[in-house]
Amino acid sequence: MARHLITSAIPYINGVKHLGNLVGSQLPADLFARYQRGRGHEVLFLCATDEHGTPAELAATKAGKPVADYCAEMHDVQEALSRGFRLSFDHFGRSSSPQNHKLTQHLAARLHEAGLIEVVTEQQVYSIADGRFLPDRYIEGTCPNCGYDKARGDQCENCTKQLDPTDLIDPRSAISGSTDLETRETKHLFLRQSRMRDTLNEWIDAKTDWPVLTTSIARKWLNDGDGLQDRGITRDLDWGIPVQFDGAQWSGMEGKVFYVWFDAPIEYIACAAEWADAQGLDESQWQRWWRTDNGADDVRYTQFMGKDNVPFHTLSFPATLMGSGEPWKLVDYIKSFNYLNYDGGQFSTSQGRGVFMDDALDILPADYWRWWLLSHAPESSDSEFTWENFQVSVNKDLADVLGNFVSRVTKFCRSKFGEEVPQGGEYGPREEALISDLTAKIAAYQAHMDAIEVRKAAAALRAIWVAGNEYLQEAAPWAAFKEDPARAAAQIRLALNLIPVYAVLSAPFIPDASAAMLAAMNAQGAGWPDDVTAALSALPAGHGFTVPDVLFAKITDEQREDWQARFSGGRG
Ligand code: 2FM
Ligand code: ZN
Repeated sequence: MARHLITSAIPYINGVKHLGNLVGSQLPADLFARYQRGRGHEVLFLCATDEHGTPAELAATKAGKPVADYCAEMHDVQEALSRGFRLSFDHFGRSSSPQNHKLTQHLAARLHEAGLIEVVTEQQVYSIADGRFLPDRYIEGTCPNCGYDKARGDQCENCTKQLDPTDLIDPRSAISGSTDLETRETKHLFLRQSRMRDTLNEWIDAKTDWPVLTTSIARKWLNDGDGLQDRGITRDLDWGIPVQFDGAQWSGMEGKVFYVWFDAPIEYIACAAEWADAQGLDESQWQRWWRTDNGADDVRYTQFMGKDNVPFHTLSFPATLMGSGEPWKLVDYIKSFNYLNYDGGQFSTSQGRGVFMDDALDILPADYWRWWLLSHAPESSDSEFTWENFQVSVNKDLADVLGNFVSRVTKFCRSKFGEEVPQGGEYGPREEALISDLTAKIAAYQAHMDAIEVRKAAAALRAIWVAGNEYLQEAAPWAAFKEDPARAAAQIRLALNLIPVYAVLSAPFIPDASAAMLAAMNAQGAGWPDDVTAALSALPAGHGFTVPDVLFAKITDEQREDWQARFSGGRG
C-alpha cells in the first residue's frame, strides 16, 4: 500500500471562488485523492484557507467586520461549499491557525540560523492619500516584462513574473488610484534564496517526469537572473503571523508580520498538524507525512495548483524547506493548470464575471459540474466554459451514456425478471469479448489517472461507459428474451454487474451518482475491479436491487438560455 500526501493550493479567504479557481487546484486534487483511496492506498488530502495579507484586511473592512471574525466566517462559507462540491479533504485548515503561527516562526528561526535571512533597510511605497504603506499587491502599474498595464506589485498576472513594486512602470495605489506615492524607510527580513540557486536547479533538473507547464515556469524564473532574487518575507500589516522567532520578538520588527506567501505554503504542513490535533493524535502522526526522519520517506507528495502559483511552489517554498536544514518532505510531483475562461473572456473575481461555486450549486448538483470541469480541465492550454458546451457534455455523457445505461438495464430487469439479479444462462463469447475490452480500457483509465492526465482519464472513463451501451445494443436482451429467456438473463446479469463496476471507477469524477448506483445495487462494499471477470460476477443470481431515480436529468434549452442570461451581467 502506497502513501499519498496530496495538497491543493489554498484559496484566498476573501470571497467565494469561481469555477476557474476550482478546476485549477481543489477539484483535480480531489479527483486524485479519491482515485488513490479507491485503489486502496493511504491518503492524506489537505487544503485550507489562505487568510493573511491585505486582501483579507480590505475585504473585512469592506464587510465592516474585524478581520479575525471575517476570516472565521468566510472559512466556514468556503468549507461548506467544498463539502457541497464533495471535495474530500481529510482536513480543511486555516493559515491563521496557531499551528501555522508556530511552524512559520520556527522555520524563520531555522532559516535565520542557517544565515539565510537578512535584515534589509528598505524604501517602501507610502500612499499619502491612503495614509498607509502600500503592500505590494496594492500597487498597480505596467509590467516591465510584458507591458501589461494592470500588473500588481507582487506579480504580473499576465506573464507570471514575480515583481517588486518598485519594478512597476507608472505605479498607482490600487486602493484609491492615487499616484501621490512616496517612498519611506522601513526594515524588513529578506530570504536569501539566491544562495540556493544551484540546489534548486539540481532539484528541478531531476524532475524529468513533471508536466512541461510546471518545469518551464520554474526554469524560466530560475534562469532569467532575477527570478530567484532575495525577497522580503515581512510586511507592515496588523493581520498575519508576527515576526517572532521561536516565541521571542525580533527587535526592530514590532508591528510587522510575515508575508502571506511565506506562511501560506507552510500551512500545508501546519494543516497536517491541525488534522492530527483535531483528532487527538500525537505529533508523530502528522510527522509521518511530513518528516523524512519520521516515516515520510516512503510518502509520495503531489501538489495541485494554477500556473500563477508555480513559482512559489518550485522556488520559494522549496527554498524555505531546504534552507531550514531540517528533514522536511519535499514535493514529488507538481500538477499545474492553465486558466479556464468563461464565455469569451476571463473569469474574474473582482468583476464577478463567470460562475461561482455557490451559484453553481444553486443550479445543479455537484456531479454535473465536476464532470464538465474535469473532462475539460485546462491542462495543455487554457480552456473555455460555454453554456452550450456544458449542456452538450452533460446531456450526452452523463444522461445519454451513463444514466441511460443504468436506467435501461435496471428497468428491463424489473419488468422481465423482477428486482433481483436473474439466474440462468452462461456468459458466452460476446461477454468474454466485453470483459477483455473492459480490461484493456480500465488499464488505460488507470494509466491516465496514475499520470494525472485528467482529460484523458475522463475520455477513458467515458469509453468504458460507452462499451457497456454498445454491448447492450448488440446483445439486445429485449430481443433474446422472446426466444431464449436464459440467454437474456445472462446478458442482464452481466449488465447489472457492470453498474457497481461503473460506480467504483466513476467515483472520483461523480461521487454522488456513484453512491446512488451502489446503493441501488446493494453493492456498497464493491472494491476496485482489479479482476474484471470476478467483478462482473460479484452480484450473484438472486441478489436484490432497486431501480434508482434518474441519475442525471438533461439540461433543457430553456434552462441553458435562462442561466446564460442570468450569468451574463456579473455578480451583484
Ligand atoms: O492563488 C491563490 O489562491 C493562493 N492563495 C494560493 C496559495 S497556495 C500555497 F502556497 F499555500
Ligand atoms: Zn508581465
